[in-house]
Amino acid sequence: MDSTIEKIKTIKHSELDEYNKFSMLGSGQHGICFARGSGIRLYDLEGKSYIDCTSQGWALFLGHANEELRQAVYEQMGELGHLNQNSDSLPRYALAKKLTELAPPNLNRVLFTVGGSAAIEAAMKIAAKNVKGARQFVCLQDGYHGTSLTTGAASWISTKTAGIFTGFNSFSAITNNIFVRIPNPYLYRWNNTPDPEDCIDACLKTARETLRSGVSGQVAGLIVEPLQASGGQIPLPKRYLQGLRQLCDDFGCLLIFDELQTYCRIGDYFAAGRYEVEPDIICIGKSLGAGFPIAAILIHDRLEGFGPLGEDVHTFSNNGIAQVAALKQLDIIERDNLLAHVNALGAYFAEGLYGLQKKYHCIGDIRQVGLHVGIEFVEDPVTKIPDMVFAQTVKHIAQAMGLILGEAGYRMNVLKIKPPFIMTFGEADEVLAILEAAVQTALQKKQ
Ligand SMILES: Cc1ncc(COP(=O)(O)O)c(C=O)c1O
Repeated sequence: MDSTIEKIKTIKHSELDEYNKFSMLGSGQHGICFARGSGIRLYDLEGKSYIDCTSQGWALFLGHANEELRQAVYEQMGELGHLNQNSDSLPRYALAKKLTELAPPNLNRVLFTVGGSAAIEAAMKIAAKNVKGARQFVCLQDGYHGTSLTTGAASWISTKTAGIFTGFNSFSAITNNIFVRIPNPYLYRWNNTPDPEDCIDACLKTARETLRSGVSGQVAGLIVEPLQASGGQIPLPKRYLQGLRQLCDDFGCLLIFDELQTYCRIGDYFAAGRYEVEPDIICIGKSLGAGFPIAAILIHDRLEGFGPLGEDVHTFSNNGIAQVAALKQLDIIERDNLLAHVNALGAYFAEGLYGLQKKYHCIGDIRQVGLHVGIEFVEDPVTKIPDMVFAQTVKHIAQAMGLILGEAGYRMNVLKIKPPFIMTFGEADEVLAILEAAVQTALQKKQ
């Protein structure tokens, strides 16, 4: 008799509706059913290939089915896989040590956990523990920190997304009062004065006023993504991030960097290093485990960490497979000088996209740092009115042409190119060519 796993391989595309009934999604809808992946490409049940510019939730730096990772994981499986959190093991020691070597100098203790939202909540607990009388947290407009009951209330998903309340808003009444939002320096949308530096000053001023008189009690921490990825690929300027550090010092609260998406993808190991800011806590996850579930927080030496009495316990927070995958991935990144490639390929994309922007006025803004590439579609480059429908049309046409693009948050008019780091320049040309063809087709449809 064939095993269930063997049987799965015989399921036909035409039978999928029957199977879809049995799985519930927490967001989105059922779409293409993928059968396999290789490098930067995915293949559906009928063998059609797609270039994956999403790295599947930005979680695969080395692409699909990497052979070296497979070997490392296979060997670890033969030795030790799952362990309870209070059982020590060499991979966990090694990964914690390695991460502290790459992080800013004073963040030398690492807690591993099960995913990004849990990491943010662990950071919040550390802040609540270390800041006397802490009552609230501050976060940014357009930020995204997860969808757990707490973190969802800090994310754009609980606000009016593209004009309507959607998704997380059903739950935010429960936890919304934990967070106070401050404006983000979204330079492209700063129209008040000709100087974008004014935007940074204005945002820092509001942040200061909020910390002084816009919160009810002592703030525990200010949580910020150094580059707001989900909310629209919005890089936050270095001067702004450094200003936040100063504010947190002035008001006695902790600065928490949510580096779930910036870790390595920004073209440096940590955005904190790149922008020369020393946060009190850094959260990482996403591709940390090369596709295996693992996330972590790194905390500053002067902070009190968790104690032995059940402050942050998760059954799956000590997985040797994920830890070994994370270590192997870092070895490969180092050996193949992949962060330099991330910067070069990102710049190459930006250059290509600036060329397209000159030809197509629907492209309002290009934002790129490392392999964080965002394209903001607008109705008109002067009014900058977000064109959500056009962005979605381009995305769907591109997908039909074999290119999977990401899409970003709040206004739903930003498409993202965030491929695995192993993409070549030739493959980047393929991406740009398909994107241009998709834009042209979408424009024809619009007429
Ligand atoms: C910046 C950031 N923080 C936190 C999260 C939440 O991570 P997870 O989905 O693993 O809970 C995400 C996920 O997209 C993220 O992009």
